[in-house]
Amino acid sequence: MTPRSKLGVFLCCLAPLSFADATKDPAWLQDIADVANVADFASCRGTSNEAPRLAGLGPKVQEGFEGWVSLMVLDYKLVNRSFYIQVPTGLNDRPAPLLIALHAQGFEADSYAKAHDFGTFGQSLGFVSIYPQGLDDALPGGADLGTGWNVGTAGDNQTCIGDEVMADCYESCWEQNRCGRCNWSGCYDERLFIFSVIEAVSAVLCIDHSRVYVTGESNGGMLAHYLVQSLPGTFAAVAPWFGLPLLGYGLGAQFELVRYTKDSRQTAMLQLHGRDDDVMPIAGGVAGNKWIYEPLNKVQQGWAAVHDCDTTASTTKTYWDGGSGNFSCLEFKGCSSGRRIMRCFYDGGHMDLPEDGIADQITLWFLLQYRLDDPWASEDVRALLV
Ligand SMILES: *[C@@H]1O[C@H](CO)[C@@H](O)[C@H](O)[C@H]1NC(C)=O
Ligand SMILES: *[C@@H]1O[C@H](CO)[C@@H](O)[C@H](O)[C@H]1NC(C)=O
Ligand SMILES: *[C@@H]1O[C@H](CO)[C@@H](O)[C@H](O)[C@H]1NC(C)=O
Ligand SMILES: *[C@@H]1O[C@H](CO)[C@@H](O)[C@H](O)[C@H]1NC(C)=O
Repeated sequence: MTPRSKLGVFLCCLAPLSFADATKDPAWLQDIADVANVADFASCRGTSNEAPRLAGLGPKVQEGFEGWVSLMVLDYKLVNRSFYIQVPTGLNDRPAPLLIALHAQGFEADSYAKAHDFGTFGQSLGFVSIYPQGLDDALPGGADLGTGWNVGTAGDNQTCIGDEVMADCYESCWEQNRCGRCNWSGCYDERLFIFSVIEAVSAVLCIDHSRVYVTGESNGGMLAHYLVQSLPGTFAAVAPWFGLPLLGYGLGAQFELVRYTKDSRQTAMLQLHGRDDDVMPIAGGVAGNKWIYEPLNKVQQGWAAVHDCDTTASTTKTYWDGGSGNFSCLEFKGCSSGRRIMRCFYDGGHMDLPEDGIADQITLWFLLQYRLDDPWASEDVRALLV
C-alpha cells in the first residue's frame, strides 16, 4: 500500500551521553534525565506462567545484545515470528523502559533499526529497543505487497474504493476467510504477537511495565494506532509517524477508546507527519485512488475527548521548531488526564523525515516522559486477546 521511497536524512551514531555532565546535554535530554535514574523495582515483575513459548530466547537476550530473536506464537496456528532487539549494557537489573518500533510495509526490522538512533539513545538512557518483523505470506502468483502488518482491517470491504486494489489475498487471510476487495496484508494477530514479545522479553530482562512505548512509520504507524486502541492501558505513550487509521478505525476496530476510556486515557500521543503526504494525507479521505483514511485531526479529536482536553488544537512550542522543514506543532491543551495529545508537521511527503534526527529526538523526548499510573497485568491484556 505504501510505496518504498527514500528515507529522510538522519544523524547516525551520536556519542553516548552521560548524565553526570548535565551542562553538555541538550535541554530535551535534561527533560527526560530521570529515565536514567529510576529505581522502582516493583515495576519489574516478570510475567505470568502462561507467558510465551520462548524456546531458545533466554541465554541470548542479555545486556549488550543486539540481533535477531525468533519466537513461536500460537496465533490461529503456530507461527514462527521474529524481532530485532537492542539491549543496552549497564542495566544492573534496574527496570528498563521498552520501546517498540514498527517498520513500514515492505521493510525489514534490522535495516529500520539501523536507520535510526534509538539504539544509541537506548544505551545512554537505559531503555531496550525492539523492532518486530512483519510477515509476507502473499501467495505465489498474486500481487505481493510485501511484509506488512494486519491492523485489524483485513476482510473489511469498506476501507478502499472501486476495484483499483489489485492484490492477492495473503495465505493467512485465505485460511481465516478474510479475503475481499481491500486485500493488502496478512491476517496474523499482531496484537498477540507484540504482546507475546513484551512478555517474552520481560521473562528474561527487567522491563518496567509502566513504561512500554510504541512508535512506527507508515504501515508501522497504522499498527501503532491499532495497538494502543486494542490493548488499552498497555502503552504509556505512542508516536505514529505518517501513519493513520483506515476509514472507521479512528477510535479502534471495536471502538475501544469509548469502551475502555479509563485505560485509554493513560496513553499520550504524538503524531509526526509530512505536510505533503499523499499516501496517507493529513486531511484523510481517499488516497492514491484506493484507500480511505481517517483525517489526522479527527483521530486526535477522539483522543483529546478521551483525555478531556480542549476541543481544538492550538500551536505549541518545541525545541525543534523551524529549520529547513519548518517543523511546527499543535496540541490539544489542558488535558485533565495529565497527558498530551500532540502532532508536528514538516515539509515533505510520505516516508520523508525532518532534518537532523529531529524525528528520533522528539519521539524519545515525548514518549519517555510518560508512565502508566496503573500498569497492566498479563491476565487482563490476555483477556482482550481472545
Ligand atoms: C524460526 O525461524 C528462524 C529463522 O528462520 C529459525 O532460525 C528457527 O529455527 C525457526 N524456529 C522454529 C521453531 O522453527
Ligand atoms: C483479493 O484476494 C482474492 C483471493 O486471492 C482475489 O480473488 C481477489 O481478486 C483479490 N481482490 C483484488 C481486488 O485484488
Ligand atoms: C468482502 O467481500 C468479499 C467478496 O469480495 C466477501 O466474500 C466477503 O464476505 C466480504 N467481507 C465482509 C466482511 O463483508
Ligand atoms: C511554517 O509553518 C507554519 C504553520 O503551518 C506557517 O504558519 C508558516 O507560514 C510556515 N513558515 C514558512 C516559512 O513556511
